[in-house]
Amino acid sequence: MKFDTPAGANPIDRTAVVGRPHDRIDGPLKTTGTAPYAYEHHAEVRNPACGYILGSAIGKGRIGAMDLAEAKTAPGVLAIVTAQDAGKLGKGKFNTAKLLGGPDIDHYHQAIAVVVAETFEQARAAAALIRVDYIRAKGRFDLAEELKTAPLTGNSNGGSPPKEARVGDFEQAFAAAPVTLDATYTTPDQSHMMMEPFASLAAWHGDELTVWTSNQMIDWGRTDLAITLGIPKEKIRFLSPYVGGGFGGKLFLRADAVMAALGARAAKRPVKVAMPRPLMANNSTHRPATVQRIRIGATREGTITAIAHESGSGDLPGGRPETAVNQSKLLYAGANRLTAMRLAVLDLPEGNAMRAPGEAPGMMALEIAIDEMAERLGMDPIAFRMKNDTQVDPEKPERPFSERNLVRCLREGADRFGWARRDPRPGQVRDGRWLIGMGMAAAFRNSSLVPSGARVRLGRDGILVVETDMTDIGTGSYTIIGQTAAEMLGLPLNKVQVRLADSRFPVSAGSGGQFGAASSTSGVYAACLKLREAVAQRLGFNTTDAVFEGGTVKSGNRSADLADATRAGDLTGEDKVEPGDLEKKYQISTFGAHFVEVGVDAYTGVMRVRRMLAVCDAGRILNPKTARSQVIGAMTMGVGGALMEELAVDKRFGFFVNHDLASYEVPVHLDIPHQEVLFLDGTDDKASPMKAKGVGELGLCGVGAAVANAVYNATGVRVRDYPVTLEKHL
Ligand code: MOS
Repeated sequence: MKFDTPAGANPIDRTAVVGRPHDRIDGPLKTTGTAPYAYEHHAEVRNPACGYILGSAIGKGRIGAMDLAEAKTAPGVLAIVTAQDAGKLGKGKFNTAKLLGGPDIDHYHQAIAVVVAETFEQARAAAALIRVDYIRAKGRFDLAEELKTAPLTGNSNGGSPPKEARVGDFEQAFAAAPVTLDATYTTPDQSHMMMEPFASLAAWHGDELTVWTSNQMIDWGRTDLAITLGIPKEKIRFLSPYVGGGFGGKLFLRADAVMAALGARAAKRPVKVAMPRPLMANNSTHRPATVQRIRIGATREGTITAIAHESGSGDLPGGRPETAVNQSKLLYAGANRLTAMRLAVLDLPEGNAMRAPGEAPGMMALEIAIDEMAERLGMDPIAFRMKNDTQVDPEKPERPFSERNLVRCLREGADRFGWARRDPRPGQVRDGRWLIGMGMAAAFRNSSLVPSGARVRLGRDGILVVETDMTDIGTGSYTIIGQTAAEMLGLPLNKVQVRLADSRFPVSAGSGGQFGAASSTSGVYAACLKLREAVAQRLGFNTTDAVFEGGTVKSGNRSADLADATRAGDLTGEDKVEPGDLEKKYQISTFGAHFVEVGVDAYTGVMRVRRMLAVCDAGRILNPKTARSQVIGAMTMGVGGALMEELAVDKRFGFFVNHDLASYEVPVHLDIPHQEVLFLDGTDDKASPMKAKGVGELGLCGVGAAVANAVYNATGVRVRDYPVTLEKHL
C-alpha cells in the first residue's frame, strides 16, 4: 500500500492489543538463554570451526610481506585467508573501507587475515604467529588540524550538494542582535560497544551460503555480502533472529560475516567468527567526533532573530559527515539562519551511524547553546524555548509539522519534575558536600516511514504466522509486530507467531534511524489488510465493512468464526507499505523534553545523576512497556555521552586507544538511580498507517545537554567539551 494520504479511522484505533504494555513475547527465550544468537546456532550447525580476525597493526600504509608459514603449521589450524588468496573481492555499498585489507591498509585493526582452527584459542594463538612487515605511511589523525582546510560538504558523499543552507541574512541579523552567543562545542568519537559483539556463522552448501549473523538490516547485509564475495544475492541466505544490541554499528555488513564466509570456503567447514572486544573499537565503525560552532542572536525579549550552526567532522576518504546540524534547521524559529558542514579526510577507522546519528551530537551542542543564551537573556530556559517554538519548518514555512507538541512536553515535564524549585543562579543549592543542579533540554529527532513488507498466514490451527525480515535488536519488534497482527485479525496475542530476520521473508525497513517500529508494523498492517480481504471473500462477506474482533468476523448483520474461513485451507496476505509524498508536504519529527538533576561533589568534582525525566511526543505508542525500555536505555546512553564516553585518539599512530569496556566507560546501574518516562497520548496520522513514529532515538537526543546544563547549574562552570569529566570543572 502506498501511504500518501493521512491515515483515517482504521482497525488499529481500537487498541485492544496495540498500545498495551505487553511483555516481550521473546522474553522467556532470552531470559532462559535459549534464544540463539549468531555464535550459538548449534542446532543448525554442528561443530563449526572458529575463525579469528587478525587486525592491521598500523593505521595507514602497506603490507610489504606476510609470512604465514609458522601459523599454518600451528595446532588445529585448518586454513588462513588473506587478501592474497581470497580471490577478487568487491566493496559493498555501505562500508567505506574494505572489510579485508591488504596490501593497502586504510585504518588500524582493518582485518588483514582470518585464521580458521578447531578452537577459538588455537585460531587466536596461530594468528599471533603471523609475521607482517608493514610499510608505514603518514596518516591524517588530528581532526582539529584537518578541519582547518576541510571543504564544505552535503549530507552524504555525492549526495546533496556541498553548500551552506541559508535563509535571510544571518550575518547582518547576528551583527544587529542586542543579545548574542558565539560558542564552540566538541563531541568526541564514540563507540557502539554493544553487548553482543559482531558475530557470524557461515556454512556453504555447494555454491549456496547461509550466514547467521548479528545485523540490523537483513537485505542490506545480504546485498553487500553478495557484492563483496562476487556471487548472486539469491545464493545467500542471511539470518539474524536475535541481536544483542546494535546502536547503528550493525546497520552494515562488517568483517565478521565476510571473514566467516571466506574462512568457511577455505576450510570447507562451517566457520564462526566473533569479534574479540579489543578489536571492536578500531575494526568496526564509530560515531565521529565533531567540532560545532553555534551562533545565536536574539532580541532583548528573547525572540531569536539569527541562528547558525556549523559542524565539522572527519572520515576516511569517500566517507560521510556527522550530520550534527540537522535539528538546528527545524527546532527553533528565527528569520535568519545558516547551517553548514565541513568534512575532513582522516585515516582513523570508519565513521558511521551510531544511535541518532546527527541529532545526538548535534543536540549535545545546540541545547547547551540554548541554555547559555537563555541565561544571557535572563530568561528561564524553558520559557526561552517556548517563545521560539515553531509549527512550521523554519527553512520552508509552507511546510507545517505533521504534529509538534514540544511546548506541551516542556510544560508537563516542568510540572512533573518540579522545575519551579530550581534556582537559576548556579552553585546555590547544597546537600551536604554535594552541589545540586537541575538542567533540561528539548528532545528532537526526525521520523521517517521506510518501505517495509510482510507476509501473514492464518492457519487451520488458528495460529496467525507473521513473516518479515525485520530485526529485533533488543527493541521489542517481535512484540509490537505480534500486537499489530493480533489487532488486525481480532485475535489475542498468544495466537500470533512472529518470525523475523530471515532473508526468505519479505524485505522490511529493518532496524535503524528510529524508523523500524512504525515502518515494520505498518508493513504488517498492510499485509493484514490483504489477509482480511481474503478472509472476507472466503466467507462471502463484504470486504470493506468486515469487523474482526474476538475471533469472529462481522459484516452487516452476518457473523462467523474466524476459524470458519480457514476450514478449507490456510489463507495468506502479503503486502508492503511505501511512503508517498506526505513527507514532502509535512515535516515529520518527534519531540520531547529531558530533565536531569545532578549532584557534584564540592571537593572532588565527582558527578552523580540523581534523577531523570523524559517526556516524549512520538505519535501512537505501540507498546508503552517496550517503548519505555527504549527510552530509559537511551537516557542511560545519554548519561554515558555526557559524562563518560570517549574514544581517545592516538594522533601519532592513528588508532583509538581505549578499546575495551574497562577503558571505554559506559554507565552501570549504580550510575542511574531514577528514571521516569512520560508519553503524550497523541497519534500522528501523517506519519504512518499505525499513526506511530519512532521513539528509541528521541530518548537519547538532548540528554547529554540536559546533564551538562544540570552540572552547570550545580557548579557555575560551563563545560563545552564532552564528555564533562571532573577535571574540566575543577
Ligand atoms: Mo540507528 S544509528 O540508525 O541504528
